[in-house]
Amino acid sequence: MLKKKRIAILTGGGDCPGINAVIRAVAKKAMLEHGMEVIGIKDGFEGLIHDRHRKLGPSEVSGLLTLGGTILGTSNTSNPYRYAVKNGNELIFKDVSKTAVANLKSLGVEALVCIGGDGTLGIASRLMNDGVPIVGIPKTIDNDLRGTEVTFGFDTAVSIATEAIDRVHTTAQSHHRIMIVEVMGRRAGWIALYAGVAGGGDIILIPEIPYTLKAVRDKVQERKKRGKRFSIVVIAEGAKTQGGDVVVRKIVETSTDPVRLGGVGFVLGEQLEKMIGTETRTVVLGHLQRGGSPTAADRILATLLGAKAVEAVVAGEFGRMVAVRRGEITTVALETAAGGPRTVPRGHPLIAAARALGTSFGE
Ligand code: F6P
Repeated sequence: MLKKKRIAILTGGGDCPGINAVIRAVAKKAMLEHGMEVIGIKDGFEGLIHDRHRKLGPSEVSGLLTLGGTILGTSNTSNPYRYAVKNGNELIFKDVSKTAVANLKSLGVEALVCIGGDGTLGIASRLMNDGVPIVGIPKTIDNDLRGTEVTFGFDTAVSIATEAIDRVHTTAQSHHRIMIVEVMGRRAGWIALYAGVAGGGDIILIPEIPYTLKAVRDKVQERKKRGKRFSIVVIAEGAKTQGGDVVVRKIVETSTDPVRLGGVGFVLGEQLEKMIGTETRTVVLGHLQRGGSPTAADRILATLLGAKAVEAVVAGEFGRMVAVRRGEITTVALETAAGGPRTVPRGHPLIAAARALGTSFGE
């Protein structure tokens, strides 16, 4: 068994409820059970490249369980292997990975715990190949990481989206409107599916099941015939029509995943209003889904994953990502997370259950 004296924690990519709970779990277990020193790298790989860090002692990691965001700061545009530098008006990309590795070495860090999504863990996997001992912890509200059945942040995002869907119901009913709620999730429909079912959405549109306008219209009209003068549509930001493409909000050239989705709810709203003549409004939940305190389930998952990460460090199990498999906390190869999004299988039991209850998926 390898006993590490000093470890570092880095949080990369978009923030997500539960990151601070993981930082707390890793740091407390490392300090209390193993007498380790813990260093926090500031602002993700940006801080690693520029040697920005701070010591995390017992008081720094106290009171974090319920706190949203990440106390370390994060960046979703700093990739040591493709680091954007301004050259006049032009952006050029440099490989500064050697600096990042050297900075860690000079800190005397014997293991780096990387908390992130596919982008961060993909970079972590390359750093591992370049000699940095790494343990990864999966994080994202999107729940779309390969290698794990669930990620912390997802339950919180689903709870927030569900509450929003509950709240738009009243306006939909009072004004006899179609209310569209657009949720995040990138190319996966996990948030839309779970929140859509939990919030009683009449139509749920996810990237995995491309929709037709006709099917959406038919469902709204079928409800009208039954005396239901309103409809709730829950749409994932990555949803698209059959044969169509996603709606892109922005391209962030320096990001590992440059495409930012968003706005499909507005597009659908205008189309439906024209087609059916029913007043339609769209609410885009956006970053509300990522903010604030994690749910109890996310705090628990974060605690379990954080503790497991320290066990992996102590056992010298590097190049691994802690994960949930068949309900158990375990580890998988770090590069698994970078293998493309884990989307919702079309045969998912929740889709079948919702269909049986009359929910339309817009097919
Ligand atoms: O991956 C988390 C997430 O919130 C996605 O659901 C969303 O598409 C993206 O990040 C938004 O990124 P940004 O914070 O850069 O706008």
